Amino acid sequence: MKEKQKMKKNNLNIHVFHDQEAASAYVANKIYDLIQKNPQAVLGLATGSTPELTYQFLIEMLTESNLDLSKILTFNLDEYVGLETTHAQSYHTFMSENLFKFLPTLKSNNNNFPSAEVDYDKKISDAGGIDLQILGIGTNGHIGFNEPGSTSDSKTRIVNLDPSTIAANSRFFNSIDEVPTKAISMGLDTIFKAKKIILMAFGETKKSAIKKLMQAEKFDQDFPASILLSHPNVEIIVDEESYK
Ligand code: GLP
Repeated sequence: MKEKQKMKKNNLNIHVFHDQEAASAYVANKIYDLIQKNPQAVLGLATGSTPELTYQFLIEMLTESNLDLSKILTFNLDEYVGLETTHAQSYHTFMSENLFKFLPTLKSNNNNFPSAEVDYDKKISDAGGIDLQILGIGTNGHIGFNEPGSTSDSKTRIVNLDPSTIAANSRFFNSIDEVPTKAISMGLDTIFKAKKIILMAFGETKKSAIKKLMQAEKFDQDFPASILLSHPNVEIIVDEESYK
């Protein structure tokens, strides 16, 4: 694998890859290894353009291996509020189109999404906690939909989206007016409880967020991803474009 550089800052293990492809193959391997070792693994999954290629590689590996996924549990990070789950831009649809529909032994009942009707944090802890949480990062440092101002003890809840997030996500909708203004998201505390976390960031647009993360010394509410600084098991996976 074309890994260029590996370093450690605070608790963060940073891996810089030449490109998104090499980085995504690395992360797909990590998820695959976990599933192979633990057929009852609990995965925390993310949406967005960042993990798409990882999911493609993972589908290829899982299809070739024929591993039984019937006891794998997944918990997605977030979902829009006010969109039908069947809407083309819902995160339910994203997961189905980019991962779930290609994995026939994965049980749809085992794929969880936050909703106002369930105590998501309890559901996660009742499942034994998340073994591996996959994260992307917003240009403003959000993880999941934990926008600046999120507290370190935040749990799964309904949040107002930051104007910068609405603008960034408008690329997936016909117009900015169609972008939901609210979402339901795992909280920072929910994410922090995962046993292992892998955050990925690719491309020039993530450069300033990654720079901020590298410069942060402790948790700062204005930059939610900084919660990761004190987590004991975090890998930050970046390409050269986001880490120049
Ligand atoms: C979205 C999601 C996040 C995602 C981030 C980056 O709004 N709620 O989970 O990590 O923004 O998205 P992308 O990967 O498309 O850059």
